[in-house]
Amino acid sequence: MDWGMQNRFARIVKPADGRAVMLAVDHGYFLGPTSGLEEPRKTIEPLLPYADSIMLTRGVLRSSVDPAANVPIVLRVSGGTSILKELSNEEITVSIEDAVRLNVSAMALSIFVGSEFEKQTLVSLTRLVDEGVKYGIPVLAVTAVGKDMARDARYLGLACRIAAELGADLVKTYYCEEFESVVQSCPVPIIVAGGKKTPEKEALELAFNSVAGGAVGVDMGRNIFQSDSPVGMIRAVGAIVHDKASVEEAYRIYESAKGAKARRAAG
Ligand code: R5P
Repeated sequence: MDWGMQNRFARIVKPADGRAVMLAVDHGYFLGPTSGLEEPRKTIEPLLPYADSIMLTRGVLRSSVDPAANVPIVLRVSGGTSILKELSNEEITVSIEDAVRLNVSAMALSIFVGSEFEKQTLVSLTRLVDEGVKYGIPVLAVTAVGKDMARDARYLGLACRIAAELGADLVKTYYCEEFESVVQSCPVPIIVAGGKKTPEKEALELAFNSVAGGAVGVDMGRNIFQSDSPVGMIRAVGAIVHDKASVEEAYRIYESAKGAKARRAAG
């Protein structure tokens, strides 16, 4: 990696501990106004102080994030589909010049291994890696899971390894049984997506198990911004990822933030 690439990567995965808390708020690119993200600025602003980086589209970046907020940006640069159509039919949606102009720290693109448009998304990844190498911008490959795909170690291991082989600098995938084998067979760092909203303790267990299994951290969205205490959840996740907190300790952080919020609301 050259200097610029290393410098940007260090803004995503913190060199002090090799860990990362990425806040995912890119869901609207195919889901529209997802619950919790109807007004992106309102959701995002209070969470920024606790996020190492934030993953989002350029539309939400420009409209809803203060440029003076010095948060590292992981820009989603793939899309072109909606929840109403075949999801794997994605292409690159942002030019490298705009990514540079927006001063992003990494670019993220989904690959759909095993889906109808598998080849298209994998070739897009290679094109993006070529551009990223040219300008020193790391690429995060998101192993999106097609409708008929099992989220197991065999499938996720396949998708992660292909992403790494094609040049991704960081791979986002899901936690699964035998997750360690997915990490071991992927020669670049792995970050874990939160997935659908679950009870807070379960989401914290997922974060704990992910880093215990070798992930550098989590890229969590719905389990943070759909929580009854988004700030409590991101702080709790941060404690697990960076401070070696147990699930119980982290849960107490969430509960205490939730209590404080309720007291403020009561006046
Ligand atoms: C998919 O829409 C995006 O890549 C999300 O960033 C990713 O799924 C992580 O968000 P969540 O924790 O809500 O699954």
